[in-house]
Amino acid sequence: MFEFEIAHRDGLARVASFHTPRGTVTTPMFMPVGTQGTVKGISPQELTEIGSQMILGNTYHLMLRPGEALVEAHGGLPGFTAYAGPFLTDSGGFQVMSLGHMRKITEEGVTFKSHLDGSLVNLTPERSIQVQEALGADVIMAFDECPPFPAEVPYIRASLERTVRWLERCVTVKQKPEQALFAIVQGGIHEELRQQSLDLTLPFDTPGFAIGGLAVGESKPEMYPAVAFTAQRLPENKPRYLMGVGHPEDLVAAIALGVDMFDCVYPTRTGRFGYALTDDGRLNLNSSAPRTQLEPIDKECDCYACQHYTRAYLAHLLRAEEMLAPRMLSLHNLRYLHRLVERAREAIAAGRYTDWATDWAGRYFKGQI
Ligand code: GUN
Ligand code: ZN
Repeated sequence: MFEFEIAHRDGLARVASFHTPRGTVTTPMFMPVGTQGTVKGISPQELTEIGSQMILGNTYHLMLRPGEALVEAHGGLPGFTAYAGPFLTDSGGFQVMSLGHMRKITEEGVTFKSHLDGSLVNLTPERSIQVQEALGADVIMAFDECPPFPAEVPYIRASLERTVRWLERCVTVKQKPEQALFAIVQGGIHEELRQQSLDLTLPFDTPGFAIGGLAVGESKPEMYPAVAFTAQRLPENKPRYLMGVGHPEDLVAAIALGVDMFDCVYPTRTGRFGYALTDDGRLNLNSSAPRTQLEPIDKECDCYACQHYTRAYLAHLLRAEEMLAPRMLSLHNLRYLHRLVERAREAIAAGRYTDWATDWAGRYFKGQI
């Protein structure tokens, strides 16, 4: 279980099979975000149709509402959500920092006011693992702290050291062998801090490692070197997960640096706002031109929206605030990212990843339609 078999390599990029209890996934892969136990607006049947492989769930949201016991009573996230494939849950620390109020971080854990009813809640490494065991995902994440950007070096250092002590506590309390616990490397955009985090984290020898603390407000010229530095120093034979990333260009860049797994709310969130991802850049369906265009969002896309609807129809739905619009744009954008990583895998297998990525970027950045 949790074996990671590399099938092809091209430079630092790789194509691999990652075996989990609920199925084998092929990497590089993009994981749709299902924060509240649903990928907003998209049914499990649709997720399967568009090639989703693993869905991300959130400890923070589900422990507050409906509570992990109710999810557990359904047999975990697969029973609760009717998505039968593999799941990954995030540990909650990151969401506390972005959503909780009046947060207080101590050695013990994090205390915060719930964004739902203002009640005081404690989240510790032990509690995070207990919740994630009840939610029953195939991959669970260590409870970490992701410092804000920018933060002072001494703060980031103290924080990454505490994250390692929290990792130790996570490993100690974890009970279920059918769940893989991934450790998270922190250290912001500083090489010496990333190295320190790696030195302290790698000895835990978890079945996979995540790169955390990025895509929190730093520029891309700051983020990519931090990804490169970290990814290269992670074990070759285990999955590498870049958390909270991202945009199509980030996937294409990070795959070249040896990253295997991604998640981001971007495709569904930008879809709800009326934007569609294409090889020619991001199409704004709120603008005037699409209102009369009788072509699909993307002629090359095989999603339901592109097979059935014109840009004009979808732009009309958006202006009429009909719920089919955000649904169809989310569906298309997820399919776009799944197709993007499919094409990346094919290029890696053919040993022409750099050429493919260069062509893709030339068109994506030239377009900006
Ligand atoms: N999601 C995006 N970044 C992070 C991170 O650094 N830690 C966790 N737990 N989740 C994330
Ligand atoms: Zn489409």
